[in-house]
Amino acid sequence: MLLKQVPAFFKKRRDALMKSQPGAIFLFPSSLEVLRNPDVHYPFRQESSFFYLTGFEEPESYLVLVPTSGSGGYQSILFVRKRDPELEIWEGERYGVEGAVSVFGVDEAYPIDELSKRLPDLLKRGEKVFYRIGMMRESDELVLNSLERARKSLGRSGKALLPIVDPAEVLGEMRLFKTPEELPMIRRACELTALAHRTAMKEVRPGMKEFEIEALIDYTFRRNGSQRVGYGSIVAGGVNAACLHYRANNDILRDHELLLVDAGGEFEYYTSDITRTFPIGREYTSGQAKLYDLVLKAQMACIEMARPGATMPGIHRKAVEVLTDGMLSLGLMKGNLEDMIQSLAYKRFYPHNTGHWLGMDVHDVGLYTQKGEPRKLQAGMFLTIEPGFYVQPGDRDVPEEYRNIGIRIEDDILITENGCENLTKDAPKVRSEIEALKN
Ligand code: GLY
Ligand code: MN
Ligand code: MN
Repeated sequence: MLLKQVPAFFKKRRDALMKSQPGAIFLFPSSLEVLRNPDVHYPFRQESSFFYLTGFEEPESYLVLVPTSGSGGYQSILFVRKRDPELEIWEGERYGVEGAVSVFGVDEAYPIDELSKRLPDLLKRGEKVFYRIGMMRESDELVLNSLERARKSLGRSGKALLPIVDPAEVLGEMRLFKTPEELPMIRRACELTALAHRTAMKEVRPGMKEFEIEALIDYTFRRNGSQRVGYGSIVAGGVNAACLHYRANNDILRDHELLLVDAGGEFEYYTSDITRTFPIGREYTSGQAKLYDLVLKAQMACIEMARPGATMPGIHRKAVEVLTDGMLSLGLMKGNLEDMIQSLAYKRFYPHNTGHWLGMDVHDVGLYTQKGEPRKLQAGMFLTIEPGFYVQPGDRDVPEEYRNIGIRIEDDILITENGCENLTKDAPKVRSEIEALKN
């Protein structure tokens, strides 16, 4: 079903971007369609920044933003696939050049096969070019050739090629701060993801396969309006949870073991990112319970810190302190707390960081430091808080009750003026609540 008109915020974003960089040209290619095997493609998803600026979901497209001389204004141009009635019978309707203008509100649109002819002229209209080199070879060649052709066409001018700047930081700065029109979509992604985690907690039984739970999560996402997952779901039973990026999801689920699910549904291009770790059978064993409560204590202490002025390294330090203190009090390691933190000895059980920006991409864009210092959190930023505890399969140097366990608890936190809001709190994480839900 084709749209009649995209919301006005896409144009507002283009306006803000061009206003922030006077004299600059921006080139954004769409995502590529990638073959999985002959005539079968991987599902297409538009590149996040391209979508952020256009709302346009077709492949083989290019957004070009060029300043207009003198006026301080700019022109937005989409290069898109031409309409093709024959092909559209097979592949579905396209917007074509007319739709690009009438539905997506750009100033001009041309067929994509005119891009290489038109680009050199467009590149004469600015002082620098924002374009991300190194993502797609064909596109890089096109841009470099066009720049060279633009320069040559000036005759013997002595001029250098226009400087090429990666737009990641400029776009990252915009996308880092979530705006009122983004929040309903973000909230929806979080709600439907929390619902999927609750469903998995209720439905899991010993003897099932990990991929059955993956399918159940997918189904719950989709039937609640999610278009796709934000990243490949991790559904890791027992010791598989100690593998941080476990993706096989094909093992059998056993009683008395835990299931770690790290999954997020995407809604209108915004993803959630929740992890919960819960019993496959009825309840946590006593060793699992002690490690679980330690991770939860660390996670809650970190969320408590999340407010304007706090920093990601500060929050991470808190997680490390609580977890390392627990390693000592549970007898998993011996020594002095500060020495263990300084020597990074805690990484034996906690090898990853405590959070990341979240948004259209699961590991979203945006600088983590400013002027060499950790960046202070501000209202509108959206991040995960996800401490964990992992006892690797080869680690026989811990009491039996703690062996072969991987636990992570991850929520999605919106920084507000006065503190934060946990958008994924509908997924239970207190042991008694999880056990009550299961039984
Ligand atoms: N699901 C990826 C992450 O938690 O960072
Ligand atoms: Mn995460
Ligand atoms: Mn995650």
